[in-house]
Amino acid sequence: MRKDKPSRTAYKIALNIITLGTKPGMDQVFPPGIVEATAKLLVPSGLVSATVVRWCRSQRMVSVYEAFDWMIPGQFEAFAHRKAFCERQVREGICKGATQVLVLGAGYDTMGWRLSPEFNGVDFFEIDHPATAHLKAKGVEAMGTRDNLHLIPVDLSERRLAEVLTANKSWDRAAQTVVLAEGLLMYLPDATVRDLLGQCAAMTGAGSRIAFTHIGTNANGRPDAGPWTSLILWALKVNGEPWLWSIRPEQLSKFLEKTGWRNAPDLLGTTNKHGVEFFSVAVK
Ligand SMILES: C[S@@+](CC[C@H](N)C(=O)[O-])C[C@H]1O[C@@H](n2cnc3c(N)ncnc32)[C@H](O)[C@@H]1O
Repeated sequence: MRKDKPSRTAYKIALNIITLGTKPGMDQVFPPGIVEATAKLLVPSGLVSATVVRWCRSQRMVSVYEAFDWMIPGQFEAFAHRKAFCERQVREGICKGATQVLVLGAGYDTMGWRLSPEFNGVDFFEIDHPATAHLKAKGVEAMGTRDNLHLIPVDLSERRLAEVLTANKSWDRAAQTVVLAEGLLMYLPDATVRDLLGQCAAMTGAGSRIAFTHIGTNANGRPDAGPWTSLILWALKVNGEPWLWSIRPEQLSKFLEKTGWRNAPDLLGTTNKHGVEFFSVAVK
């Protein structure tokens, strides 16, 4: 991604959530409160005006997204399933004893803000590139900060996660933790993904889990973005946030083993794919 600019993809995901929230039936998929919290966050962050939020909530915008769904079939609604999957993993992990939640590349996700009062014995940590994290922090400040929500602005291509967490007094590397990497790994080179997952394993306690989304690899060895892969990959590159990493689902278990995690498809509790994105869970 461009280092000096807030993430465009994080911004688009947030707008997508607001629009998708107005589509009938999606309230059955989305975690409760996410659409309202996302709208509430974006305005004081300075990302959009209240007028744009109102506009995003119109049926006309739903039609616009649906009209473009041919580019990546199913991707418009996939964001609701992705958010539901991640939140379910966090709730389940906490139910099974996790006392820390670490969200990598959090963007404008509101899970930590929404769940931190409900689980006040759990520490929520969010890491994002400073250009994005600072805007989000402005929004969170206006919405109300939480003592157990820690926003950490850091560029993970410049500083190691282990170093960042070790420097944070609230982080406990022995604690059972839920790590989320939602819509992040595809933007990182292969070596960085391996290293990042390895560091997550090293920095968390027994019984921890990691939930993440990823892109499959097509027959040509490229990330599989559906029927219009070449066009999509080109557009992502032009926007400065190219997809770099993908993996064939059948190769995932072996890949994870080398990073200190064990693939746990039995914990998915949902289908493992929406749009072009796979959902995965691994445990230590
Ligand atoms: C596609 S967005 C996903 C946002 C969020 N996880 C979601 O799904 O709503 C990817 C996020 O990763 C962050 N990111 C990308 N490269 C990063 C880096 N080197 N260090 C920290 N964050 C990074 C971006 O700033 C962006 O917020």
